[in-house]
Amino acid sequence: MTKISILVDNCAYTRGMLAEHGLSLLVEHDGIKILFDTGQSDVIVSNAENLSIELQEIDAVVLSHGHYDHTGGLPAILERRGQTQIYAHPGIFTERYSKDTVGRKDVGVPFDREQIPDAYLKTNTKPVEIFKNVWLTGEVPRINTFEQTERGFLTIKDNKMATDLITDDQSMFIQSDKGLIIILGCSHAGVVNILDYITKITAQRRVYAIIGGMHLGQADDMRIQLTTDAFMALEVQKLIPLHCTGFRATAEMFWKMKDKCIIAGAGDVLEL
Ligand SMILES: [Fe+2]
Ligand SMILES: [Fe+2]
Repeated sequence: MTKISILVDNCAYTRGMLAEHGLSLLVEHDGIKILFDTGQSDVIVSNAENLSIELQEIDAVVLSHGHYDHTGGLPAILERRGQTQIYAHPGIFTERYSKDTVGRKDVGVPFDREQIPDAYLKTNTKPVEIFKNVWLTGEVPRINTFEQTERGFLTIKDNKMATDLITDDQSMFIQSDKGLIIILGCSHAGVVNILDYITKITAQRRVYAIIGGMHLGQADDMRIQLTTDAFMALEVQKLIPLHCTGFRATAEMFWKMKDKCIIAGAGDVLEL
């Protein structure tokens, strides 16, 4: 069994839990505890306490990409946990902005690279198995025409502002007895691109569960429909849209997939 506790999400539906724009999931599989993303602040510490989760017991941290709302809680965790293995793409520390924060506040990782000693940072750009049956995708090829390249994010290239493609975006997946369990950060690569890539590299089309952020807040109706259709074509059994999926996309998924679509937030624990 795989157990996923939602430690940070944009929504909280349970007493005492705090919500913030961000994502953090504690994934327990075969006795291993992996923290997938950290939220943006020390909200994760309070929420973990509320759920009686010991952050000291985490075996590893995965950072899905270098945005503040997925990485900002890391210093608070390391303060309590001590150093632990951290997995991420080598590009996570890129300087980055969203279009409305240029000149004010960057949206990149809000702490210095030096806070993670080299020995504890394991980087990958290709698929890698980090624990038995637990994989990171590395960079995901962006192939679908309906999942447009990111346009709302900027970075600095040759001293000039340039579009940030967020190529460091990666997802995690578990090859479980029931099928694939796919864990998304923000899906900047496009959630259908991510699904296509994982089903291709594993040669496995049985997708049991998908959980995480799908970044569809600005997506048009066509993209939302094609995304939901892709989940249905794969006969996904449990879909848990979180964080940046957006209300319209979540509503469409819930409408079409009925009780296979689970509405959850910080404090909810899913046994998959
Ligand atoms: Fe995000
Ligand atoms: Fe993001």
